[in-house]
Amino acid sequence: MSILVTGATGQIGSELVGALRQRYGADHVIASARRPGNLPAPFELLDVTDRSTVEKVVSQYKVRVIYHLAAVLSATGEQDPQRAWNVNVGSLLNVLEVARNHGVHQVFFPSSIAVFGPNVPRDRTPQEACLNPTTMYGVTKVTGELLCDYYTRKYGVDVRGLRYPGIISSETPPGGGTTDYAVEIFYAAVEKGTYTCFLREDTRLPMMYMPDCLRAAIELLEAPNSRLRYRVYNITAMSFTPGEIAAEIRKHIPGLRVEYKPDFRQAIADSWPRSIDDSPARDDWGWKAEYNLPQMVQDMLARLRGRQAKLLSTPS
Ligand code: SER
Repeated sequence: MSILVTGATGQIGSELVGALRQRYGADHVIASARRPGNLPAPFELLDVTDRSTVEKVVSQYKVRVIYHLAAVLSATGEQDPQRAWNVNVGSLLNVLEVARNHGVHQVFFPSSIAVFGPNVPRDRTPQEACLNPTTMYGVTKVTGELLCDYYTRKYGVDVRGLRYPGIISSETPPGGGTTDYAVEIFYAAVEKGTYTCFLREDTRLPMMYMPDCLRAAIELLEAPNSRLRYRVYNITAMSFTPGEIAAEIRKHIPGLRVEYKPDFRQAIADSWPRSIDDSPARDDWGWKAEYNLPQMVQDMLARLRGRQAKLLSTPS
């Protein structure tokens, strides 16, 4: 029995593969992506928009659990909405169809705070609120949530998901998201001491550090089904603005200078929640974030600086 991770070279996938291999054994976790990466075997080249290749890999490895992470993020999605729909919805439908026909028991789907639009309470946005997103990315995530529900009810595939906030990570940078600034700022701070932020200084968004993001996915899939009132849950760890994260980084790098030049991503951020109510996840399966803003900043900087020091000390 194996676990398949799609999008395994991406921001979440690249670290989730390691976490799953540690927990379930390296041979049991098949990493897959559209392009080769640096991940150790087992690794399969896999374009999830092509159902037959998904079918082949699932049969070959007797896959029983799929973490389906391959997706186009919000900012990239607004540049080419049709492609975002095709990749995000098309690939999820492929995964769910293969799951029901080839004995896959569980599927994990990363949803997003982008399912919410501007017409919901933007502070402590509740689990049950209108889902009227104004981005194509959000439209694909709402559709994805409905498909999760549908395949669970109609076909008995156990599909579960999380509405992730912005994810901050030290290993693989995100690509094409609206919350990417919260990762970019660290690299810029360590490498140059200056950063130009594409969001306004006071744009508050919900965020989470990678170790919490990985643990949440694993804990959700391990939770007894009888405890779950929802297929897809709100989760969060912290909420901050670009100004606040810059101030926190300045406690370690006092000279950091940040300029604010909002671009088209500002409108996306302005349509999303400022903070999230994740009490149903806490009540149902015991979710609890471990990292707040100061702890995340300290750990991120230690990791990035450690890597920088190693690079500098390696003779070329
Ligand atoms: N981090 C994602 C994005 O910005 C939100 O799910 O697109």
